[in-house]
Amino acid sequence: MKKITKDIYWVGTEDRETKLFENMFELPFGVMYHAYFVDDEKTAVIDCVKDMTEDAFLSAVQAGLKGRDLDYIVLNHMEPDHSSAVLSLVERYPNARILCSAKAVAMLKNFYGIEKNVEVVKEGDTLSLGNNTLTWVMVPMVHWPESMMTYAVEQKVLFSTDAFGGFGIFESIFADEVTNEHRQSETVRYFANIVGKVSAIIDKTLARVLGLNLPIDVICPSHGLIWRGEGVAIILNEYIDLSQHRTKPKVTIAYSTMYGNNEESAKFLYETLRKENVEVTLYNLSETEKSFVVADIWQSQVVLLGAPAYYGGIHPKMRELLMKLEEGALINHTVGVFGNAAWSGGGVRGIESFLKENKIEMLSDSVEVMGWPTKEDQAALAKLAQSAVKALKQ
Ligand SMILES: Cc1cc2nc3c(=O)[nH]c(=O)nc-3n(C[C@H](O)[C@H](O)[C@H](O)COP(=O)(O)O)c2cc1C
Ligand SMILES: [Fe+2]
Ligand SMILES: [Fe+2]
Repeated sequence: MKKITKDIYWVGTEDRETKLFENMFELPFGVMYHAYFVDDEKTAVIDCVKDMTEDAFLSAVQAGLKGRDLDYIVLNHMEPDHSSAVLSLVERYPNARILCSAKAVAMLKNFYGIEKNVEVVKEGDTLSLGNNTLTWVMVPMVHWPESMMTYAVEQKVLFSTDAFGGFGIFESIFADEVTNEHRQSETVRYFANIVGKVSAIIDKTLARVLGLNLPIDVICPSHGLIWRGEGVAIILNEYIDLSQHRTKPKVTIAYSTMYGNNEESAKFLYETLRKENVEVTLYNLSETEKSFVVADIWQSQVVLLGAPAYYGGIHPKMRELLMKLEEGALINHTVGVFGNAAWSGGGVRGIESFLKENKIEMLSDSVEVMGWPTKEDQAALAKLAQSAVKALKQ
């Protein structure tokens, strides 16, 4: 149990065991599930944790209760990374009243068979715990339809569910005590991959929540770090930049390859851009898990995508990336295309039609190389690199 402000404590957990978040996205620095305890005349737990880490959570809650019963469990979000420990919590404290949004009621029943003591809260409802008043803001689709935020009025603490979260476990739970250089990149990777699909909703919701003019001294998300003081503005601005698709003047090259021909083109593009002093990153989609690539693409003004032809279409490794990019990572970007083929092609054609279907701005100089790039191919690739440089908005 760690103190956050008067009466409010952290009772969350660290997960270093799960290898893939949502069974898809690598977790090189682990992930945290934050939960909170309000120590007042009435006691409350806000958010739970993933059940595989629940022992530490249950012990912390027990320590906070000091022999009292638990009065309330607030569930901001039903995704099992935050809700699955509720079963054990309810087993220990069967009198606790579970407060959740209307849409969460069926999920509680369907996931855990919990129907008893469930009470729906609506936007603007208030609950006095003694010294502290809780109120709620409904934020559907940040990240699921039942998502809501809880606000502790007197302490000015916003429990923001999946918004403002990130991957990673750090030396402290407080952002102002953390120096790891991967803090920011793990926030971007979480945003782009976990909630990127609903970025437009996040943008609108943030504007609405900020429009309520609730004074916020502390943001307590369900993942990542807790933001206090000046940190509140830092994470708000990071999330606004991400949800509004504000990009940086850099290029990301992502390619797939089976036998190295297309890789040779990708490396040639990379070297050419490096010589132009452009900030550029190169990803082989068979070597780097796509969540890292998607995160970098989310913030890059220009993206170069390259794939070999595969049965008249796009090589599967690139197809997989495109399926993820379709969730919004290319909004407000310019994309160039290259590829490789042995007979009638398909990689370049396939990526081009994907871009057209998704109405994404495309450079006009796509290059399809046949086998190992010749001097002529290199000239065409150099031209594509020049177009990429021109498309960068400084
Ligand atoms: C299963 C398979 C399917 C392929 N389908 C096509 C195709 O439809 N059209 C084409 O031009 N080349 C096709 N190719 C050839 C590759 O696109 C070509 O060899 C290319 O140079 C591979 O690039 P890489 O060396 O970067 O892997 C196919 C290759 C494989 C292994
Ligand atoms: Fe979630
Ligand atoms: Fe989550």
